[in-house]
Amino acid sequence: AQLATTDQYLAHTRVVVTAGGTRERLDPVRYLTNDSSGKMGTALANAAAAAGAEVTLVTAAHQVTLPGVTVVPVTTAKDMNTAVQARFAETDIVIMAAAVADFRPSETANHKLKKTGDQGLALNLVQNPDILATLGTQRTHQFVAGFAAETDKLLVNAEAKLARKHVDMLIANQVGKGQGFNQDDNAVTLLQPGQPPVSLPRAAKLVLAQQILRYIQEARA
Ligand code: CTP
Ligand code: CA
Repeated sequence: AQLATTDQYLAHTRVVVTAGGTRERLDPVRYLTNDSSGKMGTALANAAAAAGAEVTLVTAAHQVTLPGVTVVPVTTAKDMNTAVQARFAETDIVIMAAAVADFRPSETANHKLKKTGDQGLALNLVQNPDILATLGTQRTHQFVAGFAAETDKLLVNAEAKLARKHVDMLIANQVGKGQGFNQDDNAVTLLQPGQPPVSLPRAAKLVLAQQILRYIQEARA
C-alpha cells in the first residue's frame, strides 16, 4: 500500500483505529467470529499515517500496514476493549471500524468439546462490552466515530446508533448482496448529530478512508 501525501493535516494528532472481527473462543480448537476482513480499518490507519498522524491500529485481522502505524494485535472483544481503554485518554480521534463480536461463549472449555451421541449442542452466549458506547459516554476532547454495517433500513438503524452511542460520527455501510465485507471498495454515508447525511460513493477503501478522515478533521476544527 503506497500513499503519496504531502498534506500532513493530521500532524500531532493521535489516532486509534480498530479493525477486524474479534474471535471468541469456545474450546481449544474452535471460536466464534464474523466475516470482517479488517480492510476498512487498516485503510483508515494507513491513510491517517500518510496524513501525518500518530496511529495505533488495534486489530483482530492481518492486513498490510504502512510504516508509522503501531499495530496492537488482539483476539477477543474484551482484549480490544482493554487495548482501546488503555490509550483513550491520550487519543484525539478513535475510529471503531472493527466488527466486534456481540456475544461470546459464557465459558471457554479447556478441552475440545466432544459429541455425546446424536443430539446437538446448545451454546450459552453472553453479551460483550460495547466498546464504542462506552467511549461515547467517556469522551471529553476526543472525536469518537463508529461504523454501522446494516443489511436493512441502513439510515434508520444507523441514525439510531448515532444517538444511542453518543458518538460524533457514525459511518453507515450497506452489507449483504456482495457488499461490505472483504471487498476492496466500499460506499458509505456519514452521519453526524444535527447534520444532513453525507454520501460518499463507491470507491477504493483507501480513497474512502482519506475522505472520511478529511470530514473528521473538518468536524474537529
Ligand atoms: N461496537 C463496539 N462494541 C460492541 C459492538 C459494536 O464497539 N460490543 C461498535 C462497532 O465497532 C461499530 C459500532 O459499535 O463501530 C456499531 O456496531 P454494530 O454491530 O453495527 O452495532 P451494535 O450496537 O452491535 O448493534 P447490532 O449489531 O445489534 O445492530
Ligand atoms: Ca453488533
